Amino acid sequence: MKRALVCGAGGFIGGHLVNRLKSEGYWVRGVDLKYNEYGNGNADEFVIGDLTDPVICRQVVEGGFDEVYQLAADMGGAGYIFTGENDAAVMHNSALCNLNMLHAAQQAGVKKIFYSSSACMYPEYNQLDPDNPKCSEESAYPAAPDSEYGWEKLFSERLYLTYQRNLGITVKVARFHNIFGPQGTWKGGREKAPAAICRKVIEAEDGGTIEIWGDGKQTRSFLYVEECVEGVRRLMESDFSGPVNIGSEEMISINDFAKLIAEISGKKITIKNIPGPEGVRGRNSDNALIQEKLGWAPSHSLREGITKTYHWIAEQAAKEVELA
Ligand code: NAD
Ligand code: GDD
Repeated sequence: MKRALVCGAGGFIGGHLVNRLKSEGYWVRGVDLKYNEYGNGNADEFVIGDLTDPVICRQVVEGGFDEVYQLAADMGGAGYIFTGENDAAVMHNSALCNLNMLHAAQQAGVKKIFYSSSACMYPEYNQLDPDNPKCSEESAYPAAPDSEYGWEKLFSERLYLTYQRNLGITVKVARFHNIFGPQGTWKGGREKAPAAICRKVIEAEDGGTIEIWGDGKQTRSFLYVEECVEGVRRLMESDFSGPVNIGSEEMISINDFAKLIAEISGKKITIKNIPGPEGVRGRNSDNALIQEKLGWAPSHSLREGITKTYHWIAEQAAKEVELA
């Protein structure tokens, strides 16, 4: 039986990844600062631990692991990473998790480690035109991410690749593009646009108004979490190291996205664009490389994924109302 350590297993993607590995017959240990708040991710063993501490990293990787998945990070949506207020915490916490966990895994003789980077590492100068952003893997340099979160991701990608070059551990690096789905953060300040807009629509009356940050013409693509996990597993099983985009190519403006969610809700909703943290003007995954190297690319429709997500958030919101 293969053994996997999932770092960040108490989080959104980590929880889904634990389920996927279990369904493939892995024995899984999860580690995180917290348990998954929605009970997602049924690991064989779950350790509450802080991966900024090198002693904890050494302890959690003990016991012999075939694979480590490093997803632990101090992260959030635009309201968390683009305000500037959390920059020191993001860089310090995430860089330490990466430095310590990678080193501990290599020292413990782990053969293969996965690292979750982000599309936020791409240069801002290629993402100024909302209708024509460029996010192909080779466009990463000259580097100019628009956030400290993106700079930390870029540093850590390079860190992982040095361990592969100099110390022999096999490394896999993916650049995730805005992952969404059930069991994702939907309130509290770290939620990304898909969950935030679903929540706003759910909270609005029929005929009401929701606030959308920016002019709403900024573009993004969003990837359903099951496809993200599929991409991670395919990358791990391949002989390609990356970095490679794991994202959707179905780009949409944020106002059109809000209209789609309003349509799914069945409510008549008016959009009010207000100032807020925006990030890049345009972003879309470029899936040429993943298609070439893995013979696969995400293909599910945004409508399908956001419909499931909308209904899951509506259930969570209803439970909160019942409890109040
Ligand atoms: P998440 O916030 O739900 O999960 C990250 C988990 O890491 C959290 O549960 C958190 O408690 C844990 N963590 C943070 N600091 C820790 C520490 N010091 N020790 C132990 N655990 C710690 O985020 P997610 O959406 O599941 O993202 C997973 C990974 O994918 C992250 O590295 C993130 O940067 C990356 N990523 C996500 C997206 C996305 O759209 N969700 C996009 C690009 C990259
Ligand atoms: N979060 C949020 N909440 N965003 C909103 C809202 C809202 O109520 N209204 C409009 N937006 C706009 C933001 O201003 C931004 O322009 C766009 O929706 C997308 O915001 P997010 O989904 O929060 O973040 P992002 O796409 O800029 O960055 C995310 O994806 C990266 C990978 O592609 C983040 O999750 C990063 O952490 C991640 O690495």
